[in-house]
Amino acid sequence: MNAVTVTTSPSLALIKYWGKSDVENNLPATSSFAVTLEGLYTTTTVSLAQNQDQVFINGKESNMDRFQAFFQFLKKKITTDACFLAESRVNFPVAAGLASSSSGFAALAWACCRLINPEVPLETISECARLGSASAARSVYGGFTTLRKGSIYAEPLDLNWPELRVIIAIVSDSAKPVSSRKAMEAARATSPYYAAWLSQSDQLYKSSLEAAQAKDLSQLGPLMRQSYLSMFSTMLTSAPPIIYWKPESIALIRFCETLRSEGLQLFETMDAGPQVKMVCLEQDLNDILNRLKEEHPSIQYLVSSPGGAPKC
Ligand code: PMV
Repeated sequence: MNAVTVTTSPSLALIKYWGKSDVENNLPATSSFAVTLEGLYTTTTVSLAQNQDQVFINGKESNMDRFQAFFQFLKKKITTDACFLAESRVNFPVAAGLASSSSGFAALAWACCRLINPEVPLETISECARLGSASAARSVYGGFTTLRKGSIYAEPLDLNWPELRVIIAIVSDSAKPVSSRKAMEAARATSPYYAAWLSQSDQLYKSSLEAAQAKDLSQLGPLMRQSYLSMFSTMLTSAPPIIYWKPESIALIRFCETLRSEGLQLFETMDAGPQVKMVCLEQDLNDILNRLKEEHPSIQYLVSSPGGAPKC
């Protein structure tokens, strides 16, 4: 094979991973539960290179510092000393808190592994992707996934919930000021709330799986909100504090509250960036979108659903 091309989608955590139990091996300190988002894509083609690894994202060459540990781990894992040339195209804003690193490293791991050996199992691809970005371990699968704390790879969940919808409000498409890697390390090292976050997240994770198995959004939604708001509490209380939110992010959080008070089921979550991702059911989607566009017309909205399994 001369080249492998794969298309992957980002993994949105409904219950968040935030913090590492082992920084060098990039192992998560909390268990996450996520959905892979259909319609948002990273397409990566990998071929063999002469003497150095190179990664191009949307035509721009990447600084390889971010990729050293990933390539080192992957080559050891699949026993190769080959060098790789990777070219990625992303159809949504990169590094803006839309989990582009999850689909990016999943695609890169997939294409590099399968170029060397088409039989490499998904767990190994997930394990390699994790070295680039822990959330990428989840993007190796479609639908719903978990990455348990301390785990070396993510796992797909046997859960079919096609009615779920995610509305992604793109509040800003500029790159975030602090990477999630740096922010979670700052939280671990300096936030007095970090220990509380770790102990609370176990319970949130367990309860969220029960709510999801019962396909009960009214039960899952408040757990999702607790998870992301607790995660942000460790950022706000880091020294120095890290604040990803923009005024429009807060306005949208408030507007979700208004729509809930009117009886609509809509629960927001956020990641290391200003974007607000709102989870609802298909039956309410049009009403909610109309209200959002009326109230906040300048914001761009994308609609996604569970899916996003890698396509070769
Ligand atoms: O995988 P990373 O290093 O991009 O970190 C992801 C962290 C969050 O998006 C905030 C949460 C998550 O579980 O995806």
